[in-house]
Amino acid sequence: MTQNISPILEVKDLAVSFGRGAFPAVRGLDFTLDPGEVVGLVGESGSGKSITAYSILGLLPHGAVLERGTVTFKNQDLTRMAEPKRRELCGRHMGMIFQEPLTALNPVFTVGEQVSEIFRYRLGLNRREAKKRSLKLLAEVGLPNPESAFKSYPHRFSGGMRQRVVTAMALALSPELVIADEPTTALDPTIATQIISLIRDLAAQSQASVLFITHNLRLLIGLAKRILVMYHGLVVEETPGFDQLKHPYSRGLWQALPPEPEQNQKAARRLQPIPGSAPGPGDKIIGCAFAPRCSAAEDVCFKEDIPLTELSPTQRVRCLFPC
Ligand SMILES: Nc1ncnc2c1ncn2[C@@H]1O[C@H](COP(=O)(O)OP(=O)(O)OP(=O)(O)O)[C@@H](O)[C@H]1O
Ligand SMILES: [Mg+2]
Repeated sequence: MTQNISPILEVKDLAVSFGRGAFPAVRGLDFTLDPGEVVGLVGESGSGKSITAYSILGLLPHGAVLERGTVTFKNQDLTRMAEPKRRELCGRHMGMIFQEPLTALNPVFTVGEQVSEIFRYRLGLNRREAKKRSLKLLAEVGLPNPESAFKSYPHRFSGGMRQRVVTAMALALSPELVIADEPTTALDPTIATQIISLIRDLAAQSQASVLFITHNLRLLIGLAKRILVMYHGLVVEETPGFDQLKHPYSRGLWQALPPEPEQNQKAARRLQPIPGSAPGPGDKIIGCAFAPRCSAAEDVCFKEDIPLTELSPTQRVRCLFPC
């Protein structure tokens, strides 16, 4: 959306479904990411955040079908690229930080073997050079004793240390695009804050763009320059900040956030959960998918598809009656 800058990533009308169209997971997604920009992608469980990430990386799970749309990375459409070229491009220029670090690490290889492998396979370094680079990287992500970490197996590490290793692996080749899919969900708040700072600082150092996926809007404060709010497979709002939320669903997400521990009981009592629940993957949707839960909905909201409308150069909303 920023003018005069060519985006590094452009997702256009992306639609992915399971069961030959019977279960749409992503229903026509549009967004861009500028070079060096940190964008937050937020939404409830099942809204299609991970499927969006996997679509960009070409890692769709078994049974998922790309129905339509394009994913353009550095002016090349990944959806129409031969698989070896796509793998090379994504492996070299994109880094993914997964939600659960244990699944991203192989339990039968040491941390050192797994980090070194990236430098050996992608950059063709020899064993000694790869080890040197790996030790430097493990130190950069804040592992206190890189030599000992290098020789250790992942299961010996705490969740926070594992997430540091996974972050190191994702950022090893200074990728231009980093996708972090709920990288702190399994961590306690203090460690989560450290990991977020780490991702932000390392990405800033290498001027990488970051798509930071979370179901917790609060994590994006001070991190994301722009926020995309997803609901049932669609972006319903694109906004520069929390003080400007216009979609009733985004507002609801914000009001439903649990208070910070230091907030008082009065604040806690103001907590307002969004009534009802999101539609299931097989539910037939006509009109706005959020309308059944929305206090501002009128008849028209249940009858027609709602377009994403530009309110300003930095703000778009998919709602006929924005707040
Ligand atoms: N392997 C799969 N097989 C069938 N349906 C799937 C599969 N993976 C995801 N889905 C469906 O696709 C939709 C989007 O799922 P996705 O994992 O992208 O949600 P999410 O926003 O990442 O949720 P969460 O916050 O729980 O990670 C959901 O309806 C989900 O049930
Ligand atoms: Mg997910």
